[in-house]
Amino acid sequence: MTRNANKNNKECEKCWIFDLNQFKMITNSILEENTLVLEINQNYEVSVLMDYDVFLENGILTFKDFVNDNSKSAQVLTGSLKTGILNKMSQSISEGLLNKTTNRRTYYITEPTPLIGHTAFGLIDRGTNVIQVRGLSGCNINCPFCSVDEGIHSKSRKNDYYVDKDYLVSEYEKIADFKGYKKLEAHLDGQGEPSLYYPLPDLVQNLNEINSKNNGIVSIQTNGVHLTEKLIDDLEVAGLHRINLSINAMDEKFSKGLSGSKNYDIEKIMKIAEYIKNSKIHLLIAPLLLPNYNDEEFKKVLDFAVELEQKNPQNTINPITNKKNPIVGPQLCLTYQFGRKIPKMRVWDFPKFYNLLDVYHKEYLKDGINVDLEVPLHGFFGSHGRKRLPCPFKLNETISVTVLMDGRVNGEVIGASKNRVIQIIDCKTDINKLIGKRVKVKVLRVKDNVIVGSMVK
Ligand SMILES: C[S@@+](CC[C@H](N)C(=O)[O-])C[C@H]1O[C@@H](n2cnc3c(N)ncnc32)[C@H](O)[C@@H]1O
Ligand code: SF4
Repeated sequence: MTRNANKNNKECEKCWIFDLNQFKMITNSILEENTLVLEINQNYEVSVLMDYDVFLENGILTFKDFVNDNSKSAQVLTGSLKTGILNKMSQSISEGLLNKTTNRRTYYITEPTPLIGHTAFGLIDRGTNVIQVRGLSGCNINCPFCSVDEGIHSKSRKNDYYVDKDYLVSEYEKIADFKGYKKLEAHLDGQGEPSLYYPLPDLVQNLNEINSKNNGIVSIQTNGVHLTEKLIDDLEVAGLHRINLSINAMDEKFSKGLSGSKNYDIEKIMKIAEYIKNSKIHLLIAPLLLPNYNDEEFKKVLDFAVELEQKNPQNTINPITNKKNPIVGPQLCLTYQFGRKIPKMRVWDFPKFYNLLDVYHKEYLKDGINVDLEVPLHGFFGSHGRKRLPCPFKLNETISVTVLMDGRVNGEVIGASKNRVIQIIDCKTDINKLIGKRVKVKVLRVKDNVIVGSMVK
């Protein structure tokens, strides 16, 4: 929590007020009868029961019984009331915030929890110049094909995670240092909707300060729902290089259905797409083909992207390649163990998908338009192999792990060992009894430093 010293001084002058605006992470506050509800970093909530008469206006809490009383005893009493509120906030933050979007408990991740090892939060190094940055989990829509079963309809996701911004940036910098800084891409993606991260422009700016000195970039994947012109402006100033915008249908009804959300508004997304395209941020429209389901709509999204580019071509140069990026990045829908699936969808292999893209490429050429539809896009974005962080564990070895918190899905807990977090799966023991204990774990996965294990009796 960041305190503002001047405001604090003012508060001493008027001990009966408590200015909640001094805490950056409190983004809103309301008083519901005798409960103070604090919004934390826009997405989360903490409730504090008020056992004393207060009123709240513009984020300033006033203790009614002490108004205009600046006596020593009033200062002591109001001081302890304020400490009580702060204690409750810290307790809620450490025990779990409530995610307002997904209704799930959310763990606030900060030092000393490692940030490497899990796919739901933190940092992932897959041995290239791209470092995946996952500041939070949880999504504001419910795509029925979602590979990570996100959104409020999720059956498998139990808890969410939010990573403290300063901690995320400082751990990122350590990896950047290890990888040699040059031409790095910090890619904000994840199990959820990365644009919900707050404060997103600050995160982008901090990462960009690290990367841009050596021709690196910062990029983000998003469903676009949370984007506004103001946020795009702020992200442009912060130095965001590219937005990968997921649009999977152009028809109003179809696109709502594919988002699983009645509030999804394709008109608004189209306007935002155009706004991004006219900014310094590169727009990449990334439609997903769900074979036998959205085939026509997929092609309409390609047409929309091509038309946008024709109208007013983008000219942002990617410093990694020294070239312009393409406007579209077609994707093929796959099925995943914990993902959702549309029953009507057929599963295709990649050669079949590439053939279809080749047909479209030729069709556009006939109209005199040369569209880059080649996938995967690594070549375009300049992704290349780079030394990997070493993994401190070997497959099948038994390690000692301290259990830190409940897991992302049922039967999972999250532990830490040797500066890695470990997903401990198939836990049969009562999870609450495990937290804080040291347990023996057999390592089942080490690939890309994503560590999965199961408990050994
Ligand atoms: C899991 S999402 C997270 C980022 C953001 N919420 C979004 O949808 O853009 C990351 C990417 O995975 C894609 N995706 C989702 N489900 C998929 C699936 N079953 N197969 C392949 N890609 C999928 C999305 O279209 C998106 O481009
Ligand atoms: S694909 Fe992205 S936008 Fe859709 S539910 Fe999953 S995480 Fe959310």
